[in-house]
Amino acid sequence: MGPSVEIVEVGPRDGVQSVPTFIPTEQKLGLINALLDAGVKRIEIGSFVSPKAIPQMQDIAEIISRLGSREGVRPMTLVPNLKGAKLAVTAGMEEIIFVVSMTESHNQSNVRRSVAQSIEELKTLLEEVDAGAKLRMRVDLSCAFDCPFEGRVPESVVLGHIEKIVAIRSGMELGLCDTTGFALSSHVSGLFRSCMRDFGDRASWAFHCHDTAGFALANVLAAFEAGVRTFDASVAGLGGCPFAPGATGNVATEDVIYLFHRMGVDTGIDLDRYLDACAIASGFPDGVTGGHVRHIPRARIVSSIRGG
Ligand code: COA
Ligand code: ZN
Repeated sequence: MGPSVEIVEVGPRDGVQSVPTFIPTEQKLGLINALLDAGVKRIEIGSFVSPKAIPQMQDIAEIISRLGSREGVRPMTLVPNLKGAKLAVTAGMEEIIFVVSMTESHNQSNVRRSVAQSIEELKTLLEEVDAGAKLRMRVDLSCAFDCPFEGRVPESVVLGHIEKIVAIRSGMELGLCDTTGFALSSHVSGLFRSCMRDFGDRASWAFHCHDTAGFALANVLAAFEAGVRTFDASVAGLGGCPFAPGATGNVATEDVIYLFHRMGVDTGIDLDRYLDACAIASGFPDGVTGGHVRHIPRARIVSSIRGG
């Protein structure tokens, strides 16, 4: 078997949450099912957040109940607090993503808590909601590289917060997030190397990036070269963060798939079928999209992958 990576599709959450007009539940389900049809195995299907903060996510419980389960598919939902975690577990979720920012100003803006309060809430959440450690846990570390309010985030700050998080529970997946999309590749590989050096066996690692400055794909490559094998990406680059002014969408999933397939690295996803899902995501009336590969003729995509 050759090398492989794991793609975590975040379009139905990170992408969809920033679309201003409410997308009917039926259409959200249509997108999720098209992504699963293409072979996506890990997928963030929405979030349990205050409907006042993000109205677009208000139908998450209905999405879960209508989605059903598929062999080998791991749906995830993001939660910002204990209440969200309780709702997620009640709705049947087995995998949740807790979000905490690495800077005080962004964490206040995003979830109205200090970083210490969020980390304390994570501890309570694990004690109350997951006493038997049955949940699969991801912790997304927002603004791990750059903050819309504070600029570049010092590595020592991020490592300090991670130390506290892995002390609560080891073995969780930690997502280093370039929320604003401003990180340089050297910063990305440097921080991952430091994390793996300091906490290697106490966590597993994922990279989540946005493409604001056009660096996202270069940063995916830098993270891969640093040893990361799990990558978040959004269909058609749909997205933006309502709490990170100026940030655009995530790296486009089809671009990440194409890059890895050109490199001979397996993603388990059928790119041709995936492009059908792109057409759904890029059809949302006021969604902002990005990416490159979906504009290339399909025959050229296929021949270039064969040609290496
Ligand atoms: N799911 C659904 N509803 C929730 C909730 C959750 N996880 N957490 C709180 N609420 C509800 C409360 O019940 C309350 O409802 P009410 O006004 O009808 O009584 C309301 O939201 C406000 O609750 P409160 O605890 O005072 O929260 P807040 O106003 O201080 O906001 C958060 C804190 C975390 C709930 C809110 O900032 C949030 O949802 N942020 C999400 C940010 C996000 O998703 N960012 C993008 C992803 S990184
Ligand atoms: Zn994001």
